[in-house]
Amino acid sequence: MTNSQDKSTSFVLFGALGDLSLRKLMPAWFYLERSGLLDDSLRILGVARQDITREQFQQKIIDALNLYVPDEYLDADVYNKLIERINYCCCDLNNHDDYQKLEQSLNGWNKPISYYLAIPPDLFEVVCDGLHNIQILTKNSRIVVEKPIGYSLESSRDIHDKLLKHFNESQIYRIDHYLGKETVQNLIALRFANSLFSSQWNSKSIEYIEITAAESVGIEGRWDYFDGVGQMRDMVQSHILQLLCLIAMEPPSRLNDQSIRNEKVKVLQALQPLNENNISKSFIRAQYSDGQISGAIKPGYLNEEGAISKSKTETFVAIKAEIANWRWSGTPFYIRTGKRMAGKITNIAIHFKSDAHFIFDQDQKSSTGNSLIISLHPTEGISLQVFTKRHGVNEGMRLRSDLMSLDFIKSQKLLKIPSGYQRLLLDILLGNQSLFLCKEEIELAWEWCDNAYKIWQKSLQPLYSYPAGSNGPNESKTLLQQNGHNWHDE
Ligand code: BG6
Repeated sequence: MTNSQDKSTSFVLFGALGDLSLRKLMPAWFYLERSGLLDDSLRILGVARQDITREQFQQKIIDALNLYVPDEYLDADVYNKLIERINYCCCDLNNHDDYQKLEQSLNGWNKPISYYLAIPPDLFEVVCDGLHNIQILTKNSRIVVEKPIGYSLESSRDIHDKLLKHFNESQIYRIDHYLGKETVQNLIALRFANSLFSSQWNSKSIEYIEITAAESVGIEGRWDYFDGVGQMRDMVQSHILQLLCLIAMEPPSRLNDQSIRNEKVKVLQALQPLNENNISKSFIRAQYSDGQISGAIKPGYLNEEGAISKSKTETFVAIKAEIANWRWSGTPFYIRTGKRMAGKITNIAIHFKSDAHFIFDQDQKSSTGNSLIISLHPTEGISLQVFTKRHGVNEGMRLRSDLMSLDFIKSQKLLKIPSGYQRLLLDILLGNQSLFLCKEEIELAWEWCDNAYKIWQKSLQPLYSYPAGSNGPNESKTLLQQNGHNWHDE
């Protein structure tokens, strides 16, 4: 297995001029540079098809940093230091001869080299073969691929087979940037370092759990990608199921990649497949129509640039998921995610059961039961809803609900919480795989999603609609209300 002794200081980024590279990866490198976390010997080679010079590529990076890094963090010394590390190689990935140019560009670079494929999966095989043909791969080379890996269980297996032709499992880094987010890692600390929570973390004490990833963005000019994928594959298959695994898994025996992955796999194995009897009460798909966000008119999905008018691709899903194991049987996990919703909100809400014997006025009972909200966006922190007596001699024993809140930026006196990519890029260089996915997790997640799609189509369920700028379709509220539950922000 790759380990930290095999530090990599050579990084090759395929798709260097793409959206992921310029919007997410370059700012992440910038912040790492700013924090002094990059080894002096690190060199980065951007690879893309456009025939531009190194200087033009560097300028594009500077432009991207100016766009995506807030002014207060921008620092010319830092980005000059960063772009000095960066070189460029123009390469048509389908042209075998072009790999010679790549070989020349990498001549003399330190090994092991990490190769990051920020390119469509149908190019993975040709790139891996190309690298193999120029005999540049060693047993410690690393290959990094992004979610979604494939489109279905079958296509993901096909991609894995192609990667495994030239790399073994310990060389493959499958990224889900949610796992690099500080607050996602904090789930492990919260659950397993606080006996207050660990002793209550089961269906005896927890009534239901919500996971919300609402986005105000639409498809941002990515119609070709998104229409073939939909919100289920784009957000649920990896990001949300990973959050669900971290909330639901048993305590790992150790904090290492193998133990954590094993526990996540067990959750996915226990995740109940949706079936024809429960699909209408467990799975809502919807698409946004014309609407407004903060006063600005937004086109519906079918009116987006490049849209094919008859598309039935979902931009919103709400799901009632169940985990059939000793810990969670009887506690539903509600998932909700959509594009073009009222705002960007990512959070997890854990709703604890109220006490069986209620000594206060019975009319107050419906509002009791503590909730723990773990927020990933717009703030990163946790808040616990607790009940206290209303102060005032004339209030009797009327209860009020208050929030005990912890904002990680304030409590830890941080300037900024690092992005998921910062942590993950560093881990790739260090050879630390604990925050990357294993093949089995991905395949189990696909199996569950594929089945949900299949049953949904077979049972002729409607595709609902919601206006851009709303909280999704009303049917997503009904999904919870039928069990006496509510989304905590509704
Ligand atoms: C990406 C999806 O993986 O995650 C995007 O492809 C989505 O469609 C993004 O917008 C959300 O990430 P974050 O970190 O902004 O919640």
